[in-house]
Order: sequence, then structure tokens, then C-alpha cells
Amino acid sequence: MLEVRQVRGGHDRADVLHAVSLDIAPGETLALLGPNGAGKSTLMAALSGTLARRSGTIRLDGEDISSLPSHLIVSRGLALVPEGRHMFSPFTVADNLRLGAIRLPQPTRARLAERHEFVFGLFPRLAERRSQLAGTLSGGEQQMVAIARALMSSPRMLLLDEPFLGLAPRVVEEIHQALDALRSTGLAMLLVEQKLDIALTFARRACVMVKGRIVLEASSAELAARDDLGELYFKLARAATRG
Ligand SMILES: Nc1ncnc2c1ncn2[C@@H]1O[C@H](COP(=O)(O)OP(=O)(O)O)[C@@H](O)[C@H]1O
Ligand SMILES: [Mg+2]
Repeated sequence: MLEVRQVRGGHDRADVLHAVSLDIAPGETLALLGPNGAGKSTLMAALSGTLARRSGTIRLDGEDISSLPSHLIVSRGLALVPEGRHMFSPFTVADNLRLGAIRLPQPTRARLAERHEFVFGLFPRLAERRSQLAGTLSGGEQQMVAIARALMSSPRMLLLDEPFLGLAPRVVEEIHQALDALRSTGLAMLLVEQKLDIALTFARRACVMVKGRIVLEASSAELAARDDLGELYFKLARAATRG
């Protein structure tokens, strides 16, 4: 589904990403773990085409999307739910969804209606609040809008950058359930998450990024069975520094 090979890149002259490679199978959920500043969001930007300077190869269902601009990457079926949600705050929920649908391939009236029905089915609360300004919603509701907005383009693969950050446990649970429902539709997902327990219960496989490198890749069961997980980041960070 997604094939990432030797991706390098950064925001200014120094590389943040050092030859990152990873694979996601159709319908698979992969968790990307790693401490703050590891480069997880930078990788999301590279994959979604918003990182100006990048090299390496990114293939989506075999098609090389490495040098496509971000709007074409969305219309190919890869959508990002960015870190910090990035709502269009002065716009209503409905407007935010409409903006998400701009890259929907063949945006017929029926297709748009189907997309609305899908996201409102997933997050019924958004249907109730469709005329409310996004900026006046709670954090959890804003996260729902961010996910719904990405889903309006009918993606086959969804990148989620720390969707649970700063949310109350009850809302985390609610969004977790929505993501479970999405997974059961066959949507492939790459979930960036700092909390191991959330990541490992959500994804079957996880990789750990430290200082712009994937330093570990394992099944979630394997990772969960380690009793030194707390120290793991620290050790890996040291190893990455030496390497
Ligand atoms: N817009 C930016 N301009 C310059 N440097 C950035 C920018 N965003 C992130 N960085 C730097 O890139 C590195 C990786 O950051 P980031 O990808 O946000 O990490 P993570 O998402 O894993 O916390 C950090 O050193 C950070 O300071
Ligand atoms: Mg980040």
C-alpha cells in the first residue's frame, strides 16, 4: 500500500529524516512511536508532500508519489490529519468538511452526500454541530472535525499525527472507537503516537523513530511483552547518538 524508501529531508539545511524506510500493507495499521522532536511530524509532512526538501521514494499502491504536490497526493488517496488539528476556526464544521472534499475525485453530488453521511455516521456529534464555528468546539470535537475533514477526500490511507494529544480519557476512547470502525472498513493507517499503551493496543505493528531514524520495528505484542519499555526510548536515543 505505502512503500517508503530512504526518505531524507528537513525544514532547513540540516536533515531531520535520515534514510527512513517503512512499509504499510493494504488495510494495515502501523504505529509510529518516538520521543518529542524525533522527526515523526516531519515524516508526515514528507509523506503528504508538504515538506519542501525531501529525497527518496514514496510509493502509494505502486505509484511513485515522491514528487507530487500535496493536493495531488490527497487526490491519489493519501490524507493527513495533522498534529494540532489545524481547524479553519472561523469557519463552520460544514465548511471545514467542504474544504476537505475539494480533493475528492469525481465530486458528484451523490458522492459528496455519501461522504457526509459516512463522516456523520462516524461522528454523530458533528452532524448536530454542523453549523457551529469550528473554533468554538471542544478539543475532542475539533479532532473529530480534523479526522472527518481528511475522510471527505475518500482516502485509502490515513496519516494520523498524535490525534489523542491533550484529550480527556473519555474522548480518547470515543475517537479510538471511531478509528477502530475505520479500520474495519479496510482503511490503512499510520498512527503517530507517543503513548506506548495507546499505540500498542491500536496497531498490530509498531516502529520507533529516534533522531530521524527508524531504530526498531516489531509487532505490538513483542513490544508490549518487554518490561523495559520505559527505558527503551532512552536507550535507543543513546544508541542513535552513537550511531
Ligand atoms: N517548521 C519547522 N522548521 C524548522 N525546524 C523544524 C520545523 N518543524 C520541526 N522542526 C525540527 O525538526 C525536528 C523534528 O521535529 P518533529 O518532526 O516535529 O518531531 P516530532 O513530531 O517527532 O515531535 C526537531 O528538531 C524540530 O525542532
Ligand atoms: Mg510531532
